[in-house]
Amino acid sequence: MGFQLPGVESLGDLRGKKVLVRVDFNTPVHLVDGRTEVSDDFRIRATLPLLESLKAQGAHVTCMTHFGRPKGQPNPEYSVEPIRRRLEELCPGVELKENLRFNAGEEANDPAFGASLVEGFDCYVNEAFGASHRAHASIMIPPTLIPSAAGPNLIREVKTILGALEAPVRPFVAIVGGAKVKDKLAITRVLTEKADLVIVGGGMAYTFEVAEGRTIGGSLFDESNVENCRNLLATGKIRIPTDSRGLTNGETYGPEGGTASVIEFDGNIPDDSMGLDIGFSSAEAFAEEIARAGTILWNGPMGVFEDPRFASGTERIARAVAAAPGFSVVGGGDSVAAIQKFHLENEVDFVSTGGGASLELVEQGDLPGLQALRQSERN
Ligand code: 3PG
Ligand code: MG
Repeated sequence: MGFQLPGVESLGDLRGKKVLVRVDFNTPVHLVDGRTEVSDDFRIRATLPLLESLKAQGAHVTCMTHFGRPKGQPNPEYSVEPIRRRLEELCPGVELKENLRFNAGEEANDPAFGASLVEGFDCYVNEAFGASHRAHASIMIPPTLIPSAAGPNLIREVKTILGALEAPVRPFVAIVGGAKVKDKLAITRVLTEKADLVIVGGGMAYTFEVAEGRTIGGSLFDESNVENCRNLLATGKIRIPTDSRGLTNGETYGPEGGTASVIEFDGNIPDDSMGLDIGFSSAEAFAEEIARAGTILWNGPMGVFEDPRFASGTERIARAVAAAPGFSVVGGGDSVAAIQKFHLENEVDFVSTGGGASLELVEQGDLPGLQALRQSERN
């Protein structure tokens, strides 16, 4: 990467020091016997090497995180209590402050709120890759006030993602999916510049299909971006699905599934129908490209994989990415969820803890939280 981040070793001897760690413990939760519990502790586990090492050095460690979007007000529904219990099981003796977003100063990047956070602390570590695209007080202000460093997982995330983009083993195949084309245009554009092939699937692909002159029936469509899609197709780097699987318009679909039977579309989709997943031949063709890749970057699912009838495209891609000999990086909340759903997280080379953050890092090559840490080094 084109810049260096100060590591924890730059903080010197931490024996007896009070260390404040910004983490991203914004984790999924569920009810177990009437009690809210963490249902996926991936983001908590990702911080354990740092937390254990700080403890071993004799530091007193306090973590702080946001959790959900309580809109600047205390709200028991968003208390970090379940997260605190899980943290105590995984790493006893580390404190966790209450939800940062209970105070409006957090999202407003209020200097006074930021200053109140660091009161009594000797130094600060940002180990919250997943929140480092947010210019919020807990990310931006501490590095201006006390000695600050990047945590090892943050550094690893940034190095892996930027390394894959800047010095990929070729061919570099990127896979972009998800529902909304407007959310993924910027990343798709960057990837057409860096990768050898950009595979596009998911709901966003239908706007590309229209740009190519195909009919898509009632599938997801964003008219205002047809021209953008046409320009991206003109790069010659984009590969879109040739077939699709879906339902008659108006039939229900989603995590609960549904009873209507799946229709397969070869090429055009008729007016009375909609596509909800890539077809089998597209999935096979994409999987072949993935198998040949030296570097693979995957962001976004190929269809409505929460519905078992439309999981096959995403599952085929997930299995291809997992099996591929090339170096594979998966980022973005939904593709990470897909990898976990198919129990492939140990088979891809790198699973990012960041959703929006990994997307923004690819798009911009930098993040506000990383800039804050570099700024701090110059102070
Ligand atoms: C995430 O899960 O995307 C991060 O924790 C950031 O949360 P936010 O999107 O609510 O800012
Ligand atoms: Mg988010």
